[in-house]
Amino acid sequence: MSTANAWAKPGRCGIIAALDTPDVARALAWAGAVAPHVGLVKVGLELFCAAGPAVVRQIAAQRPVFLDLKFHDIPNTVAGAVRSVCAEPPAMLTLHGGGGGPMIEAARRAAEDTAGPRRPAILAVTVLTSFTASQLAETGVSGGPAQQVLRLARLALSAGADGLVCSPHEVSRLRDAFGDAPLLVVPGVRPAGSDAGDQARVATPQETAAAGADWLVIGRPITASAAPGAAAAAIAASLAA
Ligand code: C5P
Repeated sequence: MSTANAWAKPGRCGIIAALDTPDVARALAWAGAVAPHVGLVKVGLELFCAAGPAVVRQIAAQRPVFLDLKFHDIPNTVAGAVRSVCAEPPAMLTLHGGGGGPMIEAARRAAEDTAGPRRPAILAVTVLTSFTASQLAETGVSGGPAQQVLRLARLALSAGADGLVCSPHEVSRLRDAFGDAPLLVVPGVRPAGSDAGDQARVATPQETAAAGADWLVIGRPITASAAPGAAAAAIAASLAA
C-alpha cells in the first residue's frame, strides 16, 4: 500500500479554504490572502469548470490543492478521470461514496498507478452537508443522515478510501466507529453568527475540531468577507486557542 500524501493527516485540525468562484484572478488573490492561515485550498466544480485543469497548477503554487470534483460514475470512467487529474496530482481528491466499492477501488488503483507516492488522498463524500433528513428520504434513503454516513463510510474505507467527507454532526460517530486513522474532512462549518446559507448540518469550527475533524472546509465565511485573509486568520486563531 502506498503512503498517502503527506498533507493527508495534520497534527491538529486545520483549514481548507474553498475558492468558489469562476474567476481565476479572484481565486489566486484569495489563495494568496489566506495562504499563511490555511493548510490547503479547495478547487471545486465552479472554478475547475470555468478554468480547466491548468488552474490546479496555478493555485498549487500558493497552497496544496484539495480537488473537490466529487466523481460519481462507472469504475472505468472514474479511473480515467483520476488518471487525468493526477497528471498534476492534487493533495486530495473526492468521489461520492454512493458510487460503490468497485468505483472507489478503481480510483485508488488509478491514483497509485499514475502518481505513485505523490498520489492524492482519496476521500469519499458521504451525505452532502446541505441535506436534511427529509431531503435524504426523498432520494429513497430512510433512516437519516447519520446511519447513511456510517454505511457509506464502512463501504468506502473497506474499498481503499483514505478518508471521508461528512458534516460536523457525524464526526464523533465516525471516530467512535473507525478510530483515528481515517482522514475526516468536514464542510458545513460556520463561525458563530455567520450565515448558514444552503448548508443544513452545521457547527462552529471549535465544535467540529473538538469532535475529531482533521480538516475544516470553509468557503463563504472567508470569501464573502471584506478581508478574506483576516477572516481565515481569525478562524485559525480560534482553533489554536
Ligand atoms: O461556503 P461554504 O463554507 O458553505 O463552502 C463549503 C464548501 O465545501 C463548498 O465548496 C462545497 O462544495 C464543499 N462541500 C460541502 N459539502 C460536502 C462536500 C463539499 O459543502 N459534503
